[in-house]
Amino acid sequence: MRSPVACSGDRVKVEGTWRRAIELAEDGRSVNVLDQARLPYQIAWRRLAVLAEVTAAIRDMTIRGAPLIGATAAYGLAIAMHADPSDAGLARAHAELGATRPTAINLRWALHRMHARLAPLAPSERAEAAFAEAARVCDEDVALCSAIGDHGELLIRAAAERAPGRPVQVLTHCNAGWLATVDWGTALAPIYKAHERGVALHVWVDETRPRNQGLLTAWELTQHGVPHTVIADNAGGHLMQRGMVDLCIVGTDRTTRTGDVCNKIGTYLKALAAHDNGVPFYVAAPSPSIDWTLDDGEAIPIEERGADEVRYVAGHLVVPLTSPVANPAFDVTPRRYVTGLITERGIAAASAEGLRVLFPEHAR
Ligand code: MRU
Repeated sequence: MRSPVACSGDRVKVEGTWRRAIELAEDGRSVNVLDQARLPYQIAWRRLAVLAEVTAAIRDMTIRGAPLIGATAAYGLAIAMHADPSDAGLARAHAELGATRPTAINLRWALHRMHARLAPLAPSERAEAAFAEAARVCDEDVALCSAIGDHGELLIRAAAERAPGRPVQVLTHCNAGWLATVDWGTALAPIYKAHERGVALHVWVDETRPRNQGLLTAWELTQHGVPHTVIADNAGGHLMQRGMVDLCIVGTDRTTRTGDVCNKIGTYLKALAAHDNGVPFYVAAPSPSIDWTLDDGEAIPIEERGADEVRYVAGHLVVPLTSPVANPAFDVTPRRYVTGLITERGIAAASAEGLRVLFPEHAR
């Protein structure tokens, strides 16, 4: 039942060992996840064995990143089926997991898929079927991200040909690497593939306040020996003005069927700076991150997180306690600023037509 941890194609390298960001535990009825709240300072795996532990891990960002949220929710439903496989238990687990975080569409996608598989079954059959389906969700995520890596690598290679004799300069925001998926990552998969295939490159890593996901990106890149530099969030525009960025590649938490991109707060400003400076701005978007029901990015729910994420830096109060704080966690980049969407089926124009060409089964 256990999917292989270090099968060919796995990219997660933790202290020299190939792992996945989520793994079925030895007991076959719980999962182990890398605790991202402790990274990059401490490597700790956390066991999730009951539904409440899974919902807490998603909500408090022990695990994070749109595809990994979906994969973890799939296993969360499976874990819940061991405790209560009744129709009421299935509905309750679906509702509790669905309420953990509002923006990443992968959560709804994974729960919908799991529910469709489990609802027709007798309760006694559900737990085993759920673990098998969750394993498939994870394996498919690995394949999607790997394919995104292959397509995106061609963009980096093309940039290398335009700039012979020096490393390609790629800017990324947040963490859309293997920590945010099951393996490979979305935005980082092209970087890993290009690096492994000998393309000289260097990555500008946005720090990504307030949760500092850029430090996770830096940690990942360090594990794989990819040259990179961490920059404050406000530095990207300056670097683009100075011709120090060849292309941007970011991930997405939800992209509409028309190509509007919702991603980590600050992505929009990077897209504006890229547009003003003629820097190509690509979004790595696996199909489970595409919301085929939405036409307009403004309709995407934006998660508002707690004030303390802004008030405190590494446990130190940095904002006057009397000052109110706002903490929107995502923003929307309109499709006009997106050069292309790197999907598992190739690179699509950021438009309804562009996505329809690659995903005709979703056309309407
Ligand atoms: O709030 P997070 O850390 O879950 O947000 C993650 C991001 O915004 C990533 O860039 C995103 O999920 C891209 S896809 C891997």
